[in-house]
Amino acid sequence: MENRLKATLELLKELGFEEFYTLSEGRELSQDEKNTGEPGRLEAENKPLKEASEEITPKGGEKGEKVVLLEELYERNKNCCRCDLCKSRTQIVFYDGDPNSPVMFVGEAPGEEEDKRGKPFVGRAGQYLNKVLEEIGLPRERIYITNVCKCRPPGNRKPRPKEMQACLNVFLRKELEIVQPKVICCLGGTAAEAFLGKTVRITRMRGRFYPNPLYPKAKLFLTYHPAYVLRNMWEAKTFKEDLKKLKEYLEKIT
Ligand code: URA
Repeated sequence: MENRLKATLELLKELGFEEFYTLSEGRELSQDEKNTGEPGRLEAENKPLKEASEEITPKGGEKGEKVVLLEELYERNKNCCRCDLCKSRTQIVFYDGDPNSPVMFVGEAPGEEEDKRGKPFVGRAGQYLNKVLEEIGLPRERIYITNVCKCRPPGNRKPRPKEMQACLNVFLRKELEIVQPKVICCLGGTAAEAFLGKTVRITRMRGRFYPNPLYPKAKLFLTYHPAYVLRNMWEAKTFKEDLKKLKEYLEKIT
């Protein structure tokens, strides 16, 4: 146990984490954590690693039809205030990557860095995800990536069901219609819950494909959220294996 903890701390240090806390000591619980009893996502998860990959969305070239439709969707809703998250956000964080990709990755909601820069998964969790994707030969440029909620929840708390529903109706349902992915990869329990409409125990359900009630045309694949893996590094191998399995499936269907 001690060795595992030591190895995890060393790996986290390599990834740029410098301070470690448990929720019960060393760190003040946020008001939201006190209210809900749930741990919020740590601010540190969203601070950039040593090198931040700036521009991930390919530039130049002709705009495809899907890009135009997504731009229209964004323009229509960039000032959305259908839930309270609009009060504290800096900006809406829409999507990144390739709208013509057969795979759509869906996370929970933007964190601090994403809120600042207006792009999903550009903080620590995103950079870790990029690294694993690169390692398995599925670079980030080849996937479409977005979140269930497009606005950062205060203190990085988990989005509430009402906020998720509002954002699904404004953005995610429409993104699915435009992008028409063949498979959706839910990063973590919150995204899985949004698609399956029920509480999900991600540790039990990850690594497998499911029918997709929200968008039946695409299979649903569940895995951990990269921020969870960063906090529980002994799951790194499992996370990578899951993503390899997803890539093999993509190779079969495309
Ligand atoms: N966590 C998420 O779920 N989404 C992001 O964009 C960043 C962190």
